[in-house]
Amino acid sequence: MNTVPLGIRAYDYSVSNVFLVYTPKAMKRKEFLRSIGAGAAFALTFPCVQGCSSNDDGDSDVEGEVKEVPNNVDFTVDLSSAEAANLASNGGFILKNDVVVARNLEGEIIAASQICSHQGYDQVRFQSIDGGIFYCDVHGSRFEQDGTPLNSVDATPAKALKVYMVEESDGILRIFE
Ligand code: FES
Repeated sequence: MNTVPLGIRAYDYSVSNVFLVYTPKAMKRKEFLRSIGAGAAFALTFPCVQGCSSNDDGDSDVEGEVKEVPNNVDFTVDLSSAEAANLASNGGFILKNDVVVARNLEGEIIAASQICSHQGYDQVRFQSIDGGIFYCDVHGSRFEQDGTPLNSVDATPAKALKVYMVEESDGILRIFE
């Protein structure tokens, strides 16, 4: 869309009907897209599906940070502690040391990098869909529980998500590699 800033959000002069979009200065892009509805939001965001990470204000559209995949992981989680509360139920997960620790749908504890193998955002989470997968909502990468990629979100071959070993002894989880 050809746009010029006018103090209002944008003025599209590429179509015969003038299209004015007003957004309060403080309104974030996500809030704006939510306010105009899913269809219009898709039409406006589709050109950015493969890699846009900031808008014309310089604000990041992506929640999260780009980080290194955790190495030399070795930590414990006490299953009776408050931090482990979400692991009480199948499908629950916690985030610790940039690792997603999850109780899968069969009740087993599994662990994977919270840092996505696609572009390194720390947005990988466990989702209770398709039998339980790891998922990154930045560009939609999906991984099996052993880290095998389930899709490719751009032209580059998808890489495996790093996974970690888990041991449990007397209610204490050890996550390590
Ligand atoms: S960083 Fe692109 S899908 Fe996770």
